[in-house]
Amino acid sequence: MSYKASFRVWRGDANSGGLQDFTVEVNEGEVVLDIIHRLQATQCSDLAVRWNCKAGKCGSCSAEINGRPRLLCMTRMSVFAEDEVVTVTPMRTFPVIRDLVTDVSYNYTKAREIPAFTPPADLKPGEYRMKQVDVERSQEFRKCIECFLCQNTCHVIRDHEENKENFAGPRFLMRIAELEMHPLDVADRRHAAQDEHGLGYCNITKCCTEVCPENIHITDNALIPMKERVVDRRYDPVVWLGSKIFRR
Ligand code: SF4
Ligand code: F3S
Ligand code: FES
Repeated sequence: MSYKASFRVWRGDANSGGLQDFTVEVNEGEVVLDIIHRLQATQCSDLAVRWNCKAGKCGSCSAEINGRPRLLCMTRMSVFAEDEVVTVTPMRTFPVIRDLVTDVSYNYTKAREIPAFTPPADLKPGEYRMKQVDVERSQEFRKCIECFLCQNTCHVIRDHEENKENFAGPRFLMRIAELEMHPLDVADRRHAAQDEHGLGYCNITKCCTEVCPENIHITDNALIPMKERVVDRRYDPVVWLGSKIFRR
């Protein structure tokens, strides 16, 4: 069954832009990325969109659909009513390059600021041993596809450009937590998380967790445990409250 959908797509660049209306065919089983591709093929050949896998695994097609951060390739058209206007806009937290494509280099800068896994100096490759329970703990974090939807959603930088310099964002604070929980990592992650990567800016609103397409429990399993490791509970009411409200 096909029908005609009303689409509004943001078009423009770093200097100016706005929403443009389209009427476009939709077929059964299609996702929003299919419709964007149909617009490119039929009405708007220079519409810019970033994508690679169309399988929810490369993390490239992040955007906002009706104001909600989502992967274009994993959002089925069937979740919208046929007469609903579907509005597609670029991620708001990162600078627009063109149309739906944003400059996500902030994230790569933050990634580079985190020192790599640091095993004890006297441990040789082949001598690494760790318990299965420790492997499993980090397994969840390794599911990250680096779509940066969590980074886009976190209000600490979404509404405050000025915080970007001092805040690594949920994805990279999670990376620090992963390394901190690794039994063979000897680098000082606790002080760095607080002093250099802005862990204290996070007030555990959980918005990052809500938009993660891999359903990683970023706040509960990475950020709150990291806060607990870093800060003396007596001096951080947010940690105390978080442990009461979210971790029962
Ligand atoms: Fe995307 Fe989730 Fe990774 Fe954040 S943690 S970048 S939302 S996959
Ligand atoms: Fe931001 Fe997630 Fe913390 S949305 S405030 S990093 S819980
Ligand atoms: Fe790869 Fe959407 S195109 S996640």
